Amino acid sequence: MLSKALKLQETSSFIVEWIKSPLVTASVIPSSTRLAKKMVQGLSPDSEQVIELGPGTGVFTNQLLAAGIKEEALVLVELNNKFAGKLRKKYPQATVINGAAEALPRLQLKKANAVVSGLPLLSMRDKQIDAILKGVFDVMQPGGVLVQFTYGYSSPIKKHLLQQHGLVAQRNSFVLNNFPPASVYHITKK
Ligand SMILES: C[S@@+](CC[C@H](N)C(=O)[O-])C[C@H]1O[C@@H](n2cnc3c(N)ncnc32)[C@H](O)[C@@H]1O
Repeated sequence: MLSKALKLQETSSFIVEWIKSPLVTASVIPSSTRLAKKMVQGLSPDSEQVIELGPGTGVFTNQLLAAGIKEEALVLVELNNKFAGKLRKKYPQATVINGAAEALPRLQLKKANAVVSGLPLLSMRDKQIDAILKGVFDVMQPGGVLVQFTYGYSSPIKKHLLQQHGLVAQRNSFVLNNFPPASVYHITKK
């Protein structure tokens, strides 16, 4: 379990990054542990590769490890260089990429069992989401799942984008104990 001091430190670094860039950081504080547990529910501990997009301070990463997924099986793609630097120190055996999720096709990664996303899709344009979805499902093993949370009331990915990519989005859970409350969606190929 994270010590109170470390948790406080991570929360304050999140607030600082949110002040600098509110649309990209997209949340004032990190997600709750309750939401993080729901984000990793059902993922196999034997996963050979799990990609996390927008890990921030690593709340979901901690739960991926707690679920038994090996640190060396994790690829963390984080745009913010402060967060990326901290993730490298915290998870030395994971592959940490300081870059945009849109760049996935250029990273030449091996196929992933799952992609867990903390990306702020609600503040992104369709074109950007389109590029991210293409990259995500190109790097995904058949049958793999994209796990995405949203503060919105419906699917974080609009209907026309789901159709365009041949995807289905299913609400897996709702977490009240998060600021703000959030829903977890599983997005898969039809
Ligand atoms: C809402 S925060 C979620 C952080 C963490 N997963 C959590 O739930 O506490 C969004 C994160 O996505 C990162 N981010 C935003 N746009 C990104 C992009 N295009 N590619 C990679 N990371 C991005 C932000 O820097 C931030 O760390």
